[in-house]
Amino acid sequence: MPIPEKFIQDLVDRSDIVDVVSSYVRLSKRSGANMFGLCPFHSEKTPSFSVSPDKQIYHCFGCGKGGGVISFIMEIENLSYPEAVAFLARRAGMQMPEETDSAEGRKRARMLALNKDAARWFHAQLSEPAGRAAVAYIQKRGISPAMVKNFGLGAAPDAWDSLLNAMLRKSYTENELFDAGLVKRGRQGGFYDAFRNRLMFPVIDVRGNVIGFSGRILGDGEPKYLNSPETLVFNKSRNLFALNLAKKSKSGYIILSEGNIDVVSLHQAGFDSAVASLGTSLTPEQARLISRYTGEVIIAYDGDGAGLKASQRAIGILEKLDIKVRVLRLTGAKDPDEYIKTKGPEAFRKLLEGSENQMDYRLRSIREKYDLTVTEQKSDYLREAVELLAKLPDEVRRQVYAMDLAHELGLPPDVIVNDVERRRKRIVNGAFRETQKQQARPEKLLQPTARELRYDDPASAAAEEGIVRLLYLEPSLIETRNLPPPEDFSAPGLGKIYAILCRRIRAGQSVSTDHLAGELSGDELGLLVSILQKPEILSKSRQSMADYIEKIAERKERRDGATDLLALQSQLKKKKGYEG
Ligand code: UTP
Ligand code: MN
Repeated sequence: MPIPEKFIQDLVDRSDIVDVVSSYVRLSKRSGANMFGLCPFHSEKTPSFSVSPDKQIYHCFGCGKGGGVISFIMEIENLSYPEAVAFLARRAGMQMPEETDSAEGRKRARMLALNKDAARWFHAQLSEPAGRAAVAYIQKRGISPAMVKNFGLGAAPDAWDSLLNAMLRKSYTENELFDAGLVKRGRQGGFYDAFRNRLMFPVIDVRGNVIGFSGRILGDGEPKYLNSPETLVFNKSRNLFALNLAKKSKSGYIILSEGNIDVVSLHQAGFDSAVASLGTSLTPEQARLISRYTGEVIIAYDGDGAGLKASQRAIGILEKLDIKVRVLRLTGAKDPDEYIKTKGPEAFRKLLEGSENQMDYRLRSIREKYDLTVTEQKSDYLREAVELLAKLPDEVRRQVYAMDLAHELGLPPDVIVNDVERRRKRIVNGAFRETQKQQARPEKLLQPTARELRYDDPASAAAEEGIVRLLYLEPSLIETRNLPPPEDFSAPGLGKIYAILCRRIRAGQSVSTDHLAGELSGDELGLLVSILQKPEILSKSRQSMADYIEKIAERKERRDGATDLLALQSQLKKKKGYEG
Protein backbone atom coordinates (compact mmCIF):
# COMPACT_ATOMS: atom_id res chain seq x y z
CA MET A 1 0.00 0.00 0.00
CA PRO A 2 1.61 3.28 -1.02
CA ILE A 3 2.03 5.99 1.57
CA PRO A 4 0.33 9.25 0.49
CA GLU A 5 2.60 11.69 -1.29
CA LYS A 6 1.59 14.50 0.99
CA PHE A 7 2.62 12.60 4.07
CA ILE A 8 6.03 11.89 2.60
CA GLN A 9 6.39 15.54 1.72
CA ASP A 10 5.48 16.69 5.23
CA LEU A 11 7.81 14.12 6.70
CA VAL A 12 10.70 15.19 4.51
CA ASP A 13 10.04 18.83 5.32
CA ARG A 14 10.29 18.02 9.01
CA SER A 15 13.35 15.83 8.71
CA ASP A 16 16.21 18.12 7.89
CA ILE A 17 18.91 16.02 6.30
CA VAL A 18 21.71 17.76 8.17
CA ASP A 19 20.06 17.00 11.51
CA VAL A 20 19.37 13.41 10.60
CA VAL A 21 22.79 12.65 9.14
CA SER A 22 24.49 14.43 12.03
CA SER A 23 23.34 11.76 14.43
CA TYR A 24 25.51 9.28 12.50
CA VAL A 25 28.28 11.31 10.91
CA ARG A 26 30.28 14.23 12.18
CA LEU A 27 29.81 16.88 9.55
CA SER A 28 31.92 19.94 9.21
CA LYS A 29 31.40 22.94 7.07
CA ARG A 30 33.80 23.42 4.22
CA SER A 31 33.90 25.61 1.15
CA GLY A 32 30.64 26.37 -0.60
CA ALA A 33 27.23 25.32 0.54
CA ASN A 34 27.96 21.68 1.36
CA MET A 35 28.90 19.93 4.59
CA PHE A 36 31.46 17.15 4.54
CA GLY A 37 32.24 14.12 6.64
CA LEU A 38 33.63 10.60 6.59
CA CYS A 39 31.36 8.33 4.59
CA PRO A 40 29.42 5.94 6.85
CA PHE A 41 28.95 3.50 3.97
CA HIS A 42 32.57 2.70 3.18
CA SER A 43 35.76 3.10 5.11
CA GLU A 44 37.90 6.10 4.31
CA LYS A 45 40.37 8.49 5.87
CA THR A 46 39.56 11.70 4.02
CA PRO A 47 35.98 12.91 3.78
CA SER A 48 34.27 12.32 0.45
CA PHE A 49 30.76 12.24 1.85
CA SER A 50 28.87 15.47 1.31
CA VAL A 51 25.49 16.72 2.44
CA SER A 52 23.75 19.60 0.73
CA PRO A 53 21.40 21.50 3.05
CA ASP A 54 19.95 23.35 0.04
CA LYS A 55 19.15 20.32 -2.00
CA GLN A 56 18.53 18.10 1.02
CA ILE A 57 20.59 15.31 -0.46
CA TYR A 58 23.76 13.42 0.42
CA HIS A 59 26.32 12.00 -1.94
CA CYS A 60 29.58 10.16 -1.54
CA PHE A 61 31.91 10.52 -4.48
CA GLY A 62 33.98 7.70 -3.08
CA CYS A 63 31.41 4.89 -3.08
CA GLY A 64 28.67 6.52 -5.14
CA LYS A 65 25.97 6.26 -2.52
CA GLY A 66 23.50 9.10 -2.52
CA GLY A 67 19.91 10.12 -2.03
CA GLY A 68 17.61 12.01 0.26
CA VAL A 69 16.84 11.72 3.94
CA ILE A 70 14.66 8.62 3.55
CA SER A 71 17.20 6.64 1.57
CA PHE A 72 19.87 7.64 4.08
CA ILE A 73 17.86 5.98 6.84
CA MET A 74 17.17 2.97 4.60
CA GLU A 75 20.89 2.50 4.03
CA ILE A 76 22.22 3.19 7.45
CA GLU A 77 19.52 1.44 9.47
CA ASN A 78 19.08 -1.24 6.82
CA LEU A 79 15.35 -0.69 6.52
CA SER A 80 12.82 -0.95 3.70
CA TYR A 81 11.23 2.22 2.35
CA PRO A 82 8.05 2.03 4.47
CA GLU A 83 10.12 1.10 7.52
CA ALA A 84 12.40 4.07 7.01
CA VAL A 85 9.39 6.34 6.62
CA ALA A 86 7.98 5.00 9.90
CA PHE A 87 11.39 5.46 11.56
CA LEU A 88 11.58 9.10 10.52
CA ALA A 89 7.92 9.70 11.38
CA ARG A 90 8.61 8.56 14.93
CA ARG A 91 11.60 10.83 15.10
CA ALA A 92 9.56 13.80 13.83
CA GLY A 93 6.65 13.00 16.11
CA MET A 94 4.29 12.36 13.23
CA GLN A 95 1.58 9.76 13.22
CA MET A 96 1.72 7.33 10.31
CA PRO A 97 -1.30 7.78 8.05
CA GLU A 98 -3.96 5.12 7.65
CA GLU A 99 -3.18 2.95 4.71
CA THR A 100 -4.68 4.28 1.52
CA ASP A 101 -4.72 2.98 -2.00
CA SER A 102 -3.52 4.90 -4.99
CA ALA A 103 -6.97 6.44 -5.36
CA GLU A 104 -5.21 9.55 -4.10
CA GLY A 105 -2.84 9.51 -7.04
CA ARG A 106 -5.71 9.27 -9.48
CA LYS A 107 -7.54 12.08 -7.70
CA ARG A 108 -4.49 14.32 -7.92
CA ALA A 109 -4.09 13.67 -11.61
CA ARG A 110 -7.78 14.47 -12.22
CA MET A 111 -7.54 17.68 -10.21
CA LEU A 112 -4.49 18.82 -12.14
CA ALA A 113 -6.25 18.11 -15.41
CA LEU A 114 -9.29 20.05 -14.21
CA ASN A 115 -7.13 23.00 -13.14
CA LYS A 116 -5.44 23.05 -16.52
CA ASP A 117 -8.75 22.98 -18.34
CA ALA A 118 -10.09 25.73 -16.09
CA ALA A 119 -7.02 27.88 -16.75
CA ARG A 120 -7.44 27.42 -20.48
CA TRP A 121 -11.09 28.31 -20.20
CA PHE A 122 -10.42 31.47 -18.15
CA HIS A 123 -7.81 32.48 -20.70
CA ALA A 124 -10.18 31.90 -23.60
CA GLN A 125 -12.76 34.18 -21.96
CA LEU A 126 -10.49 37.13 -22.74
CA SER A 127 -11.56 36.79 -26.37
CA GLU A 128 -15.24 36.56 -25.44
CA PRO A 129 -17.74 39.26 -24.55
CA ALA A 130 -17.80 37.88 -20.99
CA GLY A 131 -14.14 38.84 -20.63
CA ARG A 132 -14.44 42.46 -21.74
CA ALA A 133 -14.23 43.96 -18.27
CA ALA A 134 -11.09 41.97 -17.51
CA VAL A 135 -9.50 42.99 -20.81
CA ALA A 136 -10.24 46.62 -20.00
CA TYR A 137 -8.66 46.18 -16.57
CA ILE A 138 -5.59 44.52 -18.09
CA GLN A 139 -5.19 47.51 -20.37
CA LYS A 140 -5.72 49.95 -17.54
CA ARG A 141 -2.91 48.27 -15.56
CA GLY A 142 -0.70 48.43 -18.64
CA ILE A 143 -0.15 44.68 -18.90
CA SER A 144 1.04 43.74 -22.38
CA PRO A 145 -0.49 40.98 -24.52
CA ALA A 146 2.82 39.13 -24.32
CA MET A 147 2.56 39.00 -20.53
CA VAL A 148 -1.09 37.96 -20.66
CA LYS A 149 0.09 35.00 -22.68
CA ASN A 150 3.24 34.36 -20.67
CA PHE A 151 1.37 34.15 -17.39
CA GLY A 152 -1.74 32.59 -18.89
CA LEU A 153 -3.91 35.32 -17.40
CA GLY A 154 -7.63 34.92 -17.77
CA ALA A 155 -11.05 36.27 -16.93
CA ALA A 156 -13.66 34.91 -14.57
CA PRO A 157 -16.93 36.23 -16.01
CA ASP A 158 -19.47 38.11 -13.91
CA ALA A 159 -21.78 35.10 -13.61
CA TRP A 160 -22.61 32.36 -11.13
CA ASP A 161 -22.13 29.23 -13.13
CA SER A 162 -20.23 29.77 -16.36
CA LEU A 163 -17.06 27.92 -15.33
CA LEU A 164 -19.18 25.30 -13.61
CA ASN A 165 -21.15 24.59 -16.77
CA ALA A 166 -18.11 24.65 -19.01
CA MET A 167 -16.33 22.09 -16.85
CA LEU A 168 -19.42 19.89 -16.46
CA ARG A 169 -19.51 19.78 -20.24
CA LYS A 170 -15.97 18.49 -20.12
CA SER A 171 -17.29 15.70 -17.90
CA TYR A 172 -15.80 16.83 -14.60
CA THR A 173 -18.18 16.36 -11.69
CA GLU A 174 -19.47 18.98 -9.30
CA ASN A 175 -17.61 17.30 -6.49
CA GLU A 176 -14.36 17.40 -8.41
CA LEU A 177 -14.84 21.12 -9.00
CA PHE A 178 -15.63 21.57 -5.34
CA ASP A 179 -12.55 19.68 -4.17
CA ALA A 180 -10.41 21.83 -6.45
CA GLY A 181 -11.88 24.97 -4.87
CA LEU A 182 -13.33 26.18 -8.17
CA VAL A 183 -16.94 26.14 -7.01
CA LYS A 184 -18.65 26.67 -3.68
CA ARG A 185 -21.72 25.04 -2.24
CA GLY A 186 -24.76 27.27 -1.76
CA ARG A 187 -27.29 27.11 1.07
CA GLN A 188 -29.72 25.09 -1.01
CA GLY A 189 -27.00 22.57 -1.76
CA GLY A 190 -26.34 23.78 -5.30
CA PHE A 191 -22.90 24.80 -6.54
CA TYR A 192 -21.71 28.17 -7.88
CA ASP A 193 -18.46 29.57 -9.28
CA ALA A 194 -15.97 30.60 -6.61
CA PHE A 195 -14.24 33.13 -8.87
CA ARG A 196 -16.52 35.72 -10.40
CA ASN A 197 -15.74 38.96 -12.19
CA ARG A 198 -12.03 38.71 -11.51
CA LEU A 199 -8.70 38.83 -13.33
CA MET A 200 -7.37 35.30 -13.03
CA PHE A 201 -3.75 34.37 -12.32
CA PRO A 202 -3.08 30.65 -12.57
CA VAL A 203 -0.52 29.43 -10.04
CA ILE A 204 1.83 27.05 -11.80
CA ASP A 205 4.38 24.92 -10.00
CA VAL A 206 7.92 24.25 -11.18
CA ARG A 207 6.71 21.11 -12.89
CA GLY A 208 4.30 23.09 -15.03
CA ASN A 209 1.16 21.92 -13.22
CA VAL A 210 -1.62 24.43 -12.67
CA ILE A 211 -2.10 23.94 -8.94
CA GLY A 212 -4.43 26.82 -8.09
CA PHE A 213 -5.58 30.34 -8.86
CA SER A 214 -5.51 33.89 -7.57
CA GLY A 215 -8.29 36.15 -8.75
CA ARG A 216 -7.95 39.92 -8.48
CA ILE A 217 -11.00 42.11 -8.29
CA LEU A 218 -11.34 44.39 -11.32
CA GLY A 219 -10.80 47.71 -9.61
CA ASP A 220 -11.30 48.55 -5.96
CA GLY A 221 -13.16 46.38 -3.51
CA GLU A 222 -12.81 43.64 -0.97
CA PRO A 223 -11.42 41.13 -0.92
CA LYS A 224 -8.83 42.33 -3.39
CA TYR A 225 -7.62 38.82 -4.10
CA LEU A 226 -9.34 35.49 -3.80
CA ASN A 227 -7.06 32.49 -3.71
CA SER A 228 -7.71 28.79 -4.17
CA PRO A 229 -8.07 27.05 -0.83
CA GLU A 230 -5.58 24.39 0.23
CA THR A 231 -6.33 21.33 -1.88
CA LEU A 232 -4.77 17.98 -2.65
CA VAL A 233 -2.47 19.79 -5.09
CA PHE A 234 -2.25 23.32 -3.72
CA ASN A 235 -0.22 24.34 -0.72
CA LYS A 236 0.40 28.06 -0.57
CA SER A 237 3.32 27.88 1.78
CA ARG A 238 5.20 25.52 -0.48
CA ASN A 239 4.91 27.30 -3.81
CA LEU A 240 5.79 30.66 -5.28
CA PHE A 241 3.95 32.57 -7.94
CA ALA A 242 5.92 32.62 -11.23
CA LEU A 243 8.79 30.41 -10.08
CA ASN A 244 7.96 28.28 -13.10
CA LEU A 245 9.10 31.21 -15.25
CA ALA A 246 11.77 32.67 -13.00
CA LYS A 247 13.71 29.44 -12.73
CA LYS A 248 14.63 29.79 -16.40
CA SER A 249 16.03 33.29 -16.01
CA LYS A 250 19.66 33.89 -16.85
CA SER A 251 20.00 36.66 -14.30
CA GLY A 252 21.56 34.50 -11.59
CA TYR A 253 19.30 35.82 -8.83
CA ILE A 254 15.65 35.74 -7.94
CA ILE A 255 13.65 38.87 -7.21
CA LEU A 256 11.17 38.33 -4.45
CA SER A 257 8.20 40.69 -4.44
CA GLU A 258 4.84 40.73 -2.69
CA GLY A 259 2.22 41.10 -5.36
CA ASN A 260 1.16 39.17 -8.43
CA ILE A 261 0.85 42.44 -10.30
CA ASP A 262 4.39 43.40 -9.27
CA VAL A 263 5.66 40.14 -10.71
CA VAL A 264 3.89 40.67 -14.02
CA SER A 265 5.17 44.23 -14.20
CA LEU A 266 8.73 43.16 -13.44
CA HIS A 267 8.70 40.44 -16.09
CA GLN A 268 7.25 42.88 -18.59
CA ALA A 269 10.10 45.30 -17.86
CA GLY A 270 12.61 42.51 -18.52
CA PHE A 271 13.23 41.33 -14.97
CA ASP A 272 12.28 37.77 -15.68
CA SER A 273 13.39 36.30 -12.39
CA ALA A 274 10.66 37.87 -10.26
CA VAL A 275 8.45 35.72 -8.05
CA ALA A 276 5.90 36.42 -5.30
CA SER A 277 5.05 34.44 -2.24
CA LEU A 278 1.30 34.00 -2.76
CA GLY A 279 0.13 36.45 -0.17
CA THR A 280 1.94 34.87 2.76
CA SER A 281 5.21 36.04 4.19
CA LEU A 282 8.07 33.91 2.93
CA THR A 283 8.04 30.42 4.47
CA PRO A 284 11.04 28.14 5.03
CA GLU A 285 9.63 25.71 2.48
CA GLN A 286 9.44 28.45 -0.13
CA ALA A 287 12.99 29.48 0.70
CA ARG A 288 14.18 25.93 0.26
CA LEU A 289 12.43 25.76 -3.08
CA ILE A 290 14.17 28.97 -4.15
CA SER A 291 17.52 27.60 -3.06
CA ARG A 292 17.17 24.86 -5.64
CA TYR A 293 17.46 27.46 -8.37
CA THR A 294 19.61 30.29 -7.10
CA GLY A 295 22.09 31.36 -4.48
CA GLU A 296 21.03 34.98 -4.46
CA VAL A 297 17.74 36.64 -3.70
CA ILE A 298 16.89 40.32 -4.09
CA ILE A 299 13.98 41.34 -1.94
CA ALA A 300 11.69 43.91 -3.52
CA TYR A 301 8.83 44.11 -1.07
CA ASP A 302 6.49 47.04 -0.73
CA GLY A 303 8.07 50.11 0.84
CA ASP A 304 5.62 50.29 3.75
CA GLY A 305 6.13 49.17 7.33
CA ALA A 306 4.62 45.76 6.69
CA GLY A 307 6.95 45.26 3.74
CA LEU A 308 9.94 46.18 5.84
CA LYS A 309 9.01 43.75 8.57
CA ALA A 310 8.38 41.02 6.03
CA SER A 311 11.83 41.71 4.52
CA GLN A 312 13.51 41.27 7.88
CA ARG A 313 11.82 37.93 8.38
CA ALA A 314 12.64 36.78 4.86
CA ILE A 315 16.31 37.71 5.28
CA GLY A 316 16.58 35.48 8.32
CA ILE A 317 14.97 32.55 6.57
CA LEU A 318 17.02 32.88 3.40
CA GLU A 319 20.36 33.38 5.10
CA LYS A 320 19.88 30.18 7.04
CA LEU A 321 20.00 28.42 3.69
CA ASP A 322 23.19 30.20 2.73
CA ILE A 323 21.39 32.34 0.21
CA LYS A 324 22.89 35.74 -0.41
CA VAL A 325 20.28 38.40 0.22
CA ARG A 326 19.99 41.98 -0.92
CA VAL A 327 17.16 44.31 -0.11
CA LEU A 328 15.93 47.00 -2.46
CA ARG A 329 14.79 50.30 -1.04
CA LEU A 330 11.97 51.53 -3.20
CA THR A 331 11.86 55.23 -2.53
CA GLY A 332 9.02 57.31 -3.90
CA ALA A 333 6.84 54.37 -4.89
CA LYS A 334 4.73 51.94 -2.95
CA ASP A 335 5.75 48.81 -4.81
CA PRO A 336 7.86 47.60 -7.75
CA ASP A 337 4.93 47.95 -10.15
CA GLU A 338 4.49 51.64 -9.32
CA TYR A 339 8.24 52.20 -9.30
CA ILE A 340 8.60 50.86 -12.82
CA LYS A 341 5.50 52.65 -14.07
CA THR A 342 6.61 56.04 -12.73
CA LYS A 343 10.40 55.88 -13.08
CA GLY A 344 10.90 53.33 -15.81
CA PRO A 345 12.74 50.01 -16.09
CA GLU A 346 16.15 51.71 -16.28
CA ALA A 347 15.70 53.29 -12.88
CA PHE A 348 14.77 49.90 -11.48
CA ARG A 349 17.82 48.31 -13.04
CA LYS A 350 19.99 50.95 -11.41
CA LEU A 351 18.37 50.15 -8.13
CA LEU A 352 19.10 46.46 -8.68
CA GLU A 353 22.68 47.16 -9.57
CA GLY A 354 23.11 49.53 -6.68
CA SER A 355 25.30 46.98 -5.01
CA GLU A 356 27.53 49.85 -4.03
CA ASN A 357 25.04 50.91 -1.43
CA GLN A 358 24.76 47.31 -0.53
CA MET A 359 28.51 47.16 0.11
CA ASP A 360 28.24 50.22 2.32
CA TYR A 361 25.34 48.61 4.06
CA ARG A 362 27.26 45.42 4.69
CA LEU A 363 30.38 47.22 5.86
CA ARG A 364 28.24 49.17 8.22
CA SER A 365 26.62 45.99 9.57
CA ILE A 366 30.08 44.57 10.27
CA ARG A 367 31.27 47.77 11.88
CA GLU A 368 28.29 47.88 14.19
CA LYS A 369 29.32 44.59 15.72
CA TYR A 370 32.55 46.01 17.08
CA ASP A 371 33.69 48.71 19.44
CA LEU A 372 36.40 50.40 17.40
CA THR A 373 38.00 52.07 20.43
CA VAL A 374 39.17 48.65 21.59
CA THR A 375 42.29 47.69 19.63
CA GLU A 376 41.49 44.02 19.48
CA GLN A 377 38.00 44.61 18.15
CA LYS A 378 39.37 47.08 15.66
CA SER A 379 41.57 44.39 14.14
CA ASP A 380 38.66 41.94 14.09
CA TYR A 381 36.67 44.51 12.18
CA LEU A 382 39.56 45.01 9.80
CA ARG A 383 39.91 41.30 9.14
CA GLU A 384 36.22 40.84 8.43
CA ALA A 385 36.01 43.92 6.23
CA VAL A 386 39.04 42.85 4.17
CA GLU A 387 37.43 39.45 3.68
CA LEU A 388 34.29 41.14 2.39
CA LEU A 389 36.13 43.52 0.06
CA ALA A 390 38.20 40.70 -1.38
CA LYS A 391 35.00 39.19 -2.73
CA LEU A 392 34.33 42.22 -4.95
CA PRO A 393 35.06 41.18 -8.54
CA ASP A 394 35.91 44.70 -9.65
CA GLU A 395 39.50 45.74 -8.92
CA VAL A 396 38.88 49.48 -8.91
CA ARG A 397 36.05 49.14 -6.47
CA ARG A 398 38.18 46.91 -4.26
CA GLN A 399 40.82 49.65 -4.12
CA VAL A 400 38.38 52.47 -3.50
CA TYR A 401 36.83 50.63 -0.60
CA ALA A 402 40.19 49.52 0.75
CA MET A 403 41.39 53.12 0.80
CA ASP A 404 38.23 54.24 2.57
CA LEU A 405 38.74 51.53 5.11
CA ALA A 406 42.35 52.56 5.69
CA HIS A 407 41.27 56.13 6.11
CA GLU A 408 38.59 55.17 8.58
CA LEU A 409 41.01 53.19 10.73
CA GLY A 410 43.93 55.58 10.34
CA LEU A 411 46.15 53.02 8.63
CA PRO A 412 48.44 53.35 5.59
CA PRO A 413 46.26 52.84 2.46
CA ASP A 414 48.73 50.69 0.52
CA VAL A 415 48.94 48.20 3.38
CA ILE A 416 45.20 47.66 3.31
CA VAL A 417 45.01 47.60 -0.49
CA ASN A 418 47.72 44.92 -0.58
CA ASP A 419 45.99 43.00 2.13
CA VAL A 420 42.74 42.92 0.15
CA GLU A 421 44.54 41.89 -3.03
CA ARG A 422 46.39 39.08 -1.29
CA ARG A 423 43.16 37.79 0.13
CA ARG A 424 41.55 38.14 -3.30
CA LYS A 425 44.26 36.04 -4.90
CA ARG A 426 43.72 33.27 -2.43
CA ILE A 427 39.98 33.21 -3.12
CA VAL A 428 40.47 33.16 -6.87
CA ASN A 429 43.13 30.45 -6.71
CA GLY A 430 40.96 28.32 -4.49
CA ALA A 431 38.04 28.51 -6.89
CA PHE A 432 40.36 27.79 -9.82
CA ARG A 433 41.85 24.69 -8.23
CA GLU A 434 38.37 23.44 -7.41
CA THR A 435 37.19 23.63 -11.03
CA GLN A 436 40.47 22.18 -12.27
CA LYS A 437 40.06 19.22 -9.99
CA GLN A 438 36.59 18.67 -11.31
CA GLN A 439 37.58 18.96 -14.93
CA ALA A 440 40.63 16.77 -14.61
CA ARG A 441 38.78 13.49 -14.72
CA PRO A 442 35.69 13.65 -16.89
CA GLU A 443 35.84 10.01 -17.99
CA LYS A 444 36.12 8.77 -14.49
CA LEU A 445 33.20 10.92 -13.43
CA LEU A 446 31.16 9.74 -16.35
CA GLN A 447 31.00 6.12 -15.30
CA PRO A 448 28.65 5.21 -12.44
CA THR A 449 30.40 3.86 -9.37
CA ALA A 450 28.23 0.75 -9.15
CA ARG A 451 29.55 -1.97 -11.44
CA GLU A 452 26.18 -3.23 -12.65
CA LEU A 453 25.28 0.23 -13.84
CA ARG A 454 28.38 0.85 -15.99
CA TYR A 455 27.75 2.41 -19.37
CA ASP A 456 28.46 0.45 -22.56
CA ASP A 457 27.83 3.45 -24.75
CA PRO A 458 29.12 6.50 -22.84
CA ALA A 459 28.21 8.93 -25.61
CA SER A 460 24.59 7.89 -25.52
CA ALA A 461 24.60 7.59 -21.73
CA ALA A 462 25.71 11.21 -21.39
CA ALA A 463 22.64 12.29 -23.36
CA GLU A 464 20.43 9.91 -21.38
CA GLU A 465 21.75 11.45 -18.18
CA GLY A 466 20.91 14.84 -19.65
CA ILE A 467 17.29 13.91 -20.24
CA VAL A 468 16.97 12.49 -16.74
CA ARG A 469 18.50 15.62 -15.24
CA LEU A 470 16.29 17.98 -17.26
CA LEU A 471 13.10 16.09 -16.48
CA TYR A 472 13.97 16.09 -12.82
CA LEU A 473 14.66 19.81 -12.73
CA GLU A 474 11.93 20.82 -15.14
CA PRO A 475 9.21 18.19 -15.29
CA SER A 476 7.10 20.23 -17.71
CA LEU A 477 9.57 19.09 -20.37
CA ILE A 478 7.62 15.85 -20.32
CA GLU A 479 5.61 17.56 -23.08
CA THR A 480 8.66 17.57 -25.36
CA ARG A 481 7.95 15.96 -28.70
CA ASN A 482 9.65 12.71 -29.73
CA LEU A 483 10.74 11.67 -26.25
CA PRO A 484 12.37 8.27 -26.76
CA PRO A 485 10.86 5.17 -25.16
CA PRO A 486 12.95 3.91 -22.21
CA GLU A 487 14.02 0.89 -24.26
CA ASP A 488 15.98 3.21 -26.53
CA PHE A 489 18.28 4.10 -23.65
CA SER A 490 21.62 2.32 -23.93
CA ALA A 491 22.04 2.11 -20.15
CA PRO A 492 19.32 0.00 -18.53
CA GLY A 493 19.75 1.75 -15.18
CA LEU A 494 19.13 5.13 -16.75
CA GLY A 495 16.23 3.69 -18.75
CA LYS A 496 14.63 2.54 -15.52
CA ILE A 497 15.07 5.92 -13.80
CA TYR A 498 13.72 7.63 -16.91
CA ALA A 499 10.65 5.38 -17.09
CA ILE A 500 9.83 6.06 -13.44
CA LEU A 501 10.28 9.81 -13.84
CA CYS A 502 7.98 9.85 -16.87
CA ARG A 503 5.32 7.85 -15.12
CA ARG A 504 5.38 9.97 -11.97
CA ILE A 505 5.39 13.29 -13.80
CA ARG A 506 2.47 12.24 -15.98
CA ALA A 507 0.56 11.24 -12.84
CA GLY A 508 1.28 14.64 -11.32
CA GLN A 509 3.46 13.12 -8.60
CA SER A 510 6.61 14.43 -7.05
CA VAL A 511 9.95 13.29 -8.43
CA SER A 512 12.09 14.27 -5.46
CA THR A 513 14.72 11.74 -4.42
CA ASP A 514 12.71 11.04 -1.30
CA HIS A 515 9.72 9.90 -3.30
CA LEU A 516 11.90 7.84 -5.65
CA ALA A 517 13.72 6.06 -2.85
CA GLY A 518 10.94 3.46 -2.69
CA GLU A 519 11.27 2.54 -6.34
CA LEU A 520 14.99 2.66 -7.05
CA SER A 521 17.78 0.53 -5.67
CA GLY A 522 20.42 2.24 -3.58
CA ASP A 523 22.87 2.16 -6.48
CA GLU A 524 20.33 3.60 -8.88
CA LEU A 525 19.47 6.37 -6.45
CA GLY A 526 23.16 7.12 -6.00
CA LEU A 527 23.52 7.33 -9.76
CA LEU A 528 20.57 9.72 -9.98
CA VAL A 529 22.02 11.99 -7.31
CA SER A 530 25.39 12.09 -9.02
CA ILE A 531 23.67 12.98 -12.30
CA LEU A 532 21.80 15.81 -10.62
CA GLN A 533 25.04 17.28 -9.45
CA LYS A 534 26.37 17.81 -12.92
CA PRO A 535 25.58 21.27 -14.25
CA GLU A 536 22.71 21.95 -16.59
CA ILE A 537 21.76 25.31 -18.07
CA LEU A 538 18.02 25.58 -17.65
CA SER A 539 17.60 28.67 -19.77
CA LYS A 540 18.33 26.52 -22.80
CA SER A 541 16.45 23.48 -21.59
CA ARG A 542 14.34 23.00 -24.69
CA GLN A 543 17.31 23.12 -27.00
CA SER A 544 19.34 20.77 -24.79
CA MET A 545 16.44 18.37 -24.65
CA ALA A 546 16.23 18.29 -28.44
CA ASP A 547 19.99 17.75 -28.67
CA TYR A 548 19.90 14.89 -26.19
CA ILE A 549 17.03 13.21 -28.01
CA GLU A 550 18.85 13.46 -31.30
CA LYS A 551 22.04 12.07 -29.81
CA ILE A 552 20.24 9.07 -28.35
CA ALA A 553 18.53 8.32 -31.67
CA GLU A 554 21.81 8.63 -33.54
CA ARG A 555 23.66 6.31 -31.15
CA LYS A 556 20.82 3.81 -31.23
CA GLU A 557 20.92 3.72 -35.00
CA ARG A 558 24.63 3.13 -34.86
CA ARG A 559 24.28 0.32 -32.32
CA ASP A 560 21.46 -1.29 -34.31
CA GLY A 561 23.57 -0.99 -37.42
CA ALA A 562 26.46 -2.67 -35.66
CA THR A 563 24.36 -5.62 -34.52
CA ASP A 564 22.88 -5.96 -38.00
CA LEU A 565 26.39 -6.08 -39.36
CA LEU A 566 27.38 -8.77 -36.87
CA ALA A 567 24.31 -10.82 -37.80
CA LEU A 568 25.07 -10.39 -41.46
CA GLN A 569 28.66 -11.45 -40.98
CA SER A 570 27.72 -14.61 -39.15
CA GLN A 571 25.14 -15.45 -41.81
CA LEU A 572 27.77 -15.09 -44.47
CA LYS A 573 30.16 -17.23 -42.53
CA LYS A 574 27.51 -19.91 -42.18
CA LYS A 575 26.87 -19.90 -45.92
CA LYS A 576 30.52 -20.34 -46.62
CA GLY A 577 30.52 -23.24 -44.22
CA TYR A 578 32.97 -21.71 -41.75
CA GLU A 579 30.60 -22.49 -38.92
CA GLY A 580 28.09 -25.05 -37.73
P1 UTP B 1 -1.18 43.67 -2.81
O1 UTP B 1 -2.37 44.28 -2.16
O2 UTP B 1 0.10 44.43 -2.70
O3 UTP B 1 -1.58 43.32 -4.31
O4 UTP B 1 -1.01 42.23 -2.16
P2 UTP B 1 -0.83 43.54 -5.73
O5 UTP B 1 -0.73 42.22 -6.40
O6 UTP B 1 0.41 44.31 -5.56
O7 UTP B 1 -1.90 44.34 -6.56
P3 UTP B 1 -2.02 45.90 -6.85
O8 UTP B 1 -0.79 46.35 -7.57
O9 UTP B 1 -2.19 46.58 -5.54
O10 UTP B 1 -3.22 45.95 -7.71
C1 UTP B 1 0.10 41.45 -2.42
C2 UTP B 1 -0.30 40.02 -2.58
O11 UTP B 1 -0.95 39.55 -1.42
C3 UTP B 1 -1.95 38.63 -1.76
C4 UTP B 1 -1.93 38.49 -3.28
O12 UTP B 1 -1.13 37.37 -3.63
C5 UTP B 1 -1.29 39.78 -3.71
O13 UTP B 1 -0.67 39.69 -4.97
N1 UTP B 1 -3.27 39.10 -1.31
C6 UTP B 1 -3.56 40.43 -1.24
C7 UTP B 1 -4.23 38.18 -0.99
O14 UTP B 1 -3.99 36.96 -1.06
N2 UTP B 1 -5.48 38.60 -0.61
C8 UTP B 1 -5.81 39.92 -0.55
O15 UTP B 1 -6.97 40.24 -0.23
C9 UTP B 1 -4.81 40.84 -0.86
MN1 MN C 1 1.26 45.54 -4.12
